[in-house]
Amino acid sequence: MKILVIGAGGREHAIVRALARSPQRPELLCAPGNAGIADDAEVVDIGVDEIDRLVAAAKARSVDLVVVGPEAPLVAGLVDALGRAGISAFGPSAAAARLEGSKAFAKEVMEAAGVPTAAYTVVDTVEDGMAAITSYPVVLKYDGLAAGKGVVIAPDEETARATLEDFLVNRKFGRDKVVVEECLVGEELSLLALCDGERAVPLAPAQDYKRALEGDEGPNTGGMGSYSPVPGVAAEDLADISALVHQPIVDLLRERGTPFHGVLYAGLMMTADGPKVLEYNTRFGDPETQAVLPRLRSDLVELLERSVRPGGLEGAALEFSPDWAVTVVLASRGYPASSSKGDVISGLGDVPAGVEVTHAGTARNDAGEVVTAGGRVLNVTALGADPAAARAAAYAGVDAITFDGRQVRRDIAQRAEDRVGA
Ligand code: AMP
Ligand code: GLY
Repeated sequence: MKILVIGAGGREHAIVRALARSPQRPELLCAPGNAGIADDAEVVDIGVDEIDRLVAAAKARSVDLVVVGPEAPLVAGLVDALGRAGISAFGPSAAAARLEGSKAFAKEVMEAAGVPTAAYTVVDTVEDGMAAITSYPVVLKYDGLAAGKGVVIAPDEETARATLEDFLVNRKFGRDKVVVEECLVGEELSLLALCDGERAVPLAPAQDYKRALEGDEGPNTGGMGSYSPVPGVAAEDLADISALVHQPIVDLLRERGTPFHGVLYAGLMMTADGPKVLEYNTRFGDPETQAVLPRLRSDLVELLERSVRPGGLEGAALEFSPDWAVTVVLASRGYPASSSKGDVISGLGDVPAGVEVTHAGTARNDAGEVVTAGGRVLNVTALGADPAAARAAAYAGVDAITFDGRQVRRDIAQRAEDRVGA
C-alpha cells in the first residue's frame, strides 16, 4: 500500500504520522513535504499547485491513494485530474470544493440545504454593500480563497466602506463579489466529518486559536494553537450537530450530481440559538488536525479509503482516546505579516518523551541544520488525562525548542483548563 500526501505543513505532517500508525504499514510519500516530514516519509520535490506533475508522479510511482492536504489544489481540480488518470484520491472534486472556494456558493448551498447560518446578502458594488448593512459590527467576506485575509469584521461604517472599496474597487484579491453577513456571538467550534458522498461521520471536536496574540488580540493568523475535545460539547451531541451541519450538505451535493468525498470542515458558532455555520472548509483543518489525529484510535488508512468509495463509510465507528490533546504553534519573527527564514532551530532533540513535534515551515540549511522556512514553523502536541496535564506537557515541549524571533501564545487551551479543572 503506497500513499502520497500532498502538502508541506503541520497538518500534512500530522496526517503522515497518523497514516504511519496504521496496522497496514503503508509506504508513505509526501510532496513537497518539509524537513520534519522527510524523517517520516519519502519527500518528492513537486509543489502543491503542479497538478500535471503530481498526477504523473503518482502514476509513475504506482501510488494506491493520494491524500490532498491544502485547499488550493482541491479547488484547482487535483482530485478530478487524479481520477481521470485512474488514481484513487481522498478529497472533494473541484465542483464540491467550491464550498470552500466561493463563500457565495457556500451560502447558497447552506440556504438550499436548510443549514443554520448567519443572515447574508451577496453584493457586487460598494453602494449595494452599504445598503445591505443593517447593524454594526458587520462581517464582510470576500468571495474566494484569500489565505485567511478575506474576512473583515467591521465595527463601524467607515471601516465597512473602506473594506468594500478594497475588495470591490481596488479588487484586492481579483474577484468582484462580497458576502455581507450578520455578526454572530458565541464560542467557535471546528467540527470535521469524513464524507463518502452519501454520509458524514464526525471526527472529535476541536477549538482553534486564530489570533496572533494572547487573549485573542492582534491580527488573524492561520492558527496559533488548538485543542481537542471541547468542554461543553458532549460526545453524544456530536451526531446531532453533524446531522444539522454536515449531512444536509452531503445530501444536497449528491442530489446535484457533485457528491462530496473527503473532509467537510464546519466552522461553527455556538450561539444562544444553537450551532450556526460560519464557513465550510473542504479539507482537514490546520492546526486542528495536529490535536485531533493523535487521539484517533481507528485506522486512518482504512477510513480514508472508505471515504473515497461511494457509501464506503457505512457502519463506520470512529474511536478516539479519552485524553485531551493540546497543540501549540511556534511561529517565526514577523508572522503573520511576514516571516523569517533561515533561523537555526535548536532543542528539537530535547523535547520530553511523549511530546510530538510536527513540522510546518522548516527546511535544512547547507550545514544540515533544521531552520525556519515560513510563518508557522513547528507544532508541539501533547496528550494528558485532563487539559492541565496536556497543557503542562505541551509547554514543556515548547520550552525545549528555541530559535531567533520565536513567537508562542502561552494561553492555548487555558479556556479548557479553566472549565474542566485538574
Ligand atoms: P472564515 O475565514 O470564514 O473562517 O472567517 C474567519 C473568522 O471570522 C472566523 O473564524 C470567525 O472568527 C470570524 N467570523 C466569520 N463569520 C462570522 C460571523 N458571521 N460572525 C462572527 N464572526 C465571524
Ligand atoms: N484552522 C483553520 C483552518 O484550517 O482553516
